[in-house]
Amino acid sequence: MARRTKIYEGKAKILYEGPEPGTLVQYFKDDATAFNAEKKDIIDGKGVLNNRLSEFFMNGLNEIGVPTHFLKRINMREQLIRNCEIIPLEVIVRNFAAGTICKRLGLEEGMRLPRPIVEYCYKDDALGDPLVTEEHIAAFGWATQQDMDDILSLALRVNDFLSGLMLGVGIRLVDFKIEIGRVYDGDFQHLLVADEISPDSCRLWDIETGQKLDKDVFRRDLGSLTDAYTEVAQRLGVLAKNSPAASKPTLIS
Ligand code: TYD
Repeated sequence: MARRTKIYEGKAKILYEGPEPGTLVQYFKDDATAFNAEKKDIIDGKGVLNNRLSEFFMNGLNEIGVPTHFLKRINMREQLIRNCEIIPLEVIVRNFAAGTICKRLGLEEGMRLPRPIVEYCYKDDALGDPLVTEEHIAAFGWATQQDMDDILSLALRVNDFLSGLMLGVGIRLVDFKIEIGRVYDGDFQHLLVADEISPDSCRLWDIETGQKLDKDVFRRDLGSLTDAYTEVAQRLGVLAKNSPAASKPTLIS
C-alpha cells in the first residue's frame, strides 16, 4: 500500500491525505495533554474511544441537520472527514461554571449559568489560546459577521443536542469546545462542525454523584481516564455494557 501523506499532526490527532479530493483521514492518537501540553501521557485506548464517540456525536448531528465534517469511520482509530478550512477559534459553550470561567469571574464550580454562554478563544498554542471578543475576530478578519451569526447558531444547536443526549444517560454537559470549518461548494461557502466531539473537549459530570467523566480525570489525577470514557461510551450505547474495557484495544485494520 502506498505511504499516506501526513498533512498535519496535532496533540491528539493526525490528519492524512484522503482517498478522494476534498477528503482527509483523521487518526486518533492515545496522547493526552493538559495545561497547554505541560502535562503529557499516553493513555491506552483513548484514541479508540474518542474515534467511536466522535463518530456517534457527529452522526447524530448530521442526522438532525447540523452539518459536520464527518463522512464515515474507517477503522478503530481512523475516520474519513471532509477537508475544510478551520476557522482559528475554539468555540466554547458553557451551561455550568467550571474551569477558566471560575477563575476569571470568581464563580463557584458547578453553579448553573443564567443561560448558555458562548465564548471564543483564538487558536494559538504559543499564546495559550487567549479569550477574544467578536471585536478582535472582526478586526483581524478571522470570521465575518455572517460567519459569527452562523457559528453562534451552530454552537447552540450542538449544545441542545449534546445536553439532551447526555441528560438521557444521567450525565450533565457542563461545557464543551467545538471547532468550525469552512467548505466551498462552487461559489458558495458554508460552515460545519469539524475536529472532534469527545470527552477530551467536554466537561461531563454524573448527575447523581457529580463524578467527572471527562479529561479533568487526567488533568486532576482523579483515576483512570479510559474507565471514565468507557463509562460514557457504554451509557450512550456506543460500546456494549459487557464489552471488555477499551484499555487494551487490538487494531483490526
Ligand atoms: P476552559 O474552562 O476554558 O479551559 P480549561 O479546560 O483549560 O479549564 O474550557 C472550557 C471547555 O472547553 C472544557 O470542556 C475544555 C474545552 N476546551 C478544549 O477542549 N480545548 C481548548 O483549547 C479550550 C480553550 C477549551
